[in-house]
Amino acid sequence: MPDAVLPWLRAKDLGRVVFTEEELGRRVEEMGRDITRSYPPEETLLVLGLLKGSFIFLADLVRRIHRPLQVDFLVASSYQNEKVSSGDVRLLYDPDTSLEGRSVLLVEDIVDSGTTMDHLVPILERRGPSSLEICALLHKRRVALRKEPKWVGFDAPQDFLVGYGLDLSEDYRHLPFIASV
Ligand code: IMP
Ligand code: MG
Repeated sequence: MPDAVLPWLRAKDLGRVVFTEEELGRRVEEMGRDITRSYPPEETLLVLGLLKGSFIFLADLVRRIHRPLQVDFLVASSYQNEKVSSGDVRLLYDPDTSLEGRSVLLVEDIVDSGTTMDHLVPILERRGPSSLEICALLHKRRVALRKEPKWVGFDAPQDFLVGYGLDLSEDYRHLPFIASV
């Protein structure tokens, strides 16, 4: 583990490092290669990042996808009731970009209860993309989704995780590694 990581863990009461910067880098590179191979060379992708959690993963991932592509973002919010999701998902930001006839790749940081994905996917499918696939960096495998991600970086432990885009009350998103709290 790089020495620079240790002060973070000590000062911020973080638990263990679950995925190191090197592991994340290697896996994202592999995922980019797999995604590249899955689309014909001339195909232009529309990569939709789910904010905020996916911003670092998406930035690294798109630089490993060797296909023409455009990037846009969505902001979704699930109503929370005492830490139990009410199952209702609201789009707080919805891009103007039309999905009609496009190859859409939805990029998510982590699938936990699956509520976000299960609600978002039908909304996006109604917009008539020629294909819609999901790429999630982490999957806690708590539930079966209506539509499983075609690409998953890592199966994640059930712990609460921070870093590489993931937050705890908006902190820790900038850590270059992923740690448990
Ligand atoms: P789901 O709708 O329960 O699948 O939750 C998905 C969203 O909850 C993710 O996009 C994250 O923003 C957040 N989330 C779930 N688990 C974690 C975690 O361990 N750390 C940080 N955020 C999480
Ligand atoms: Mg998220």
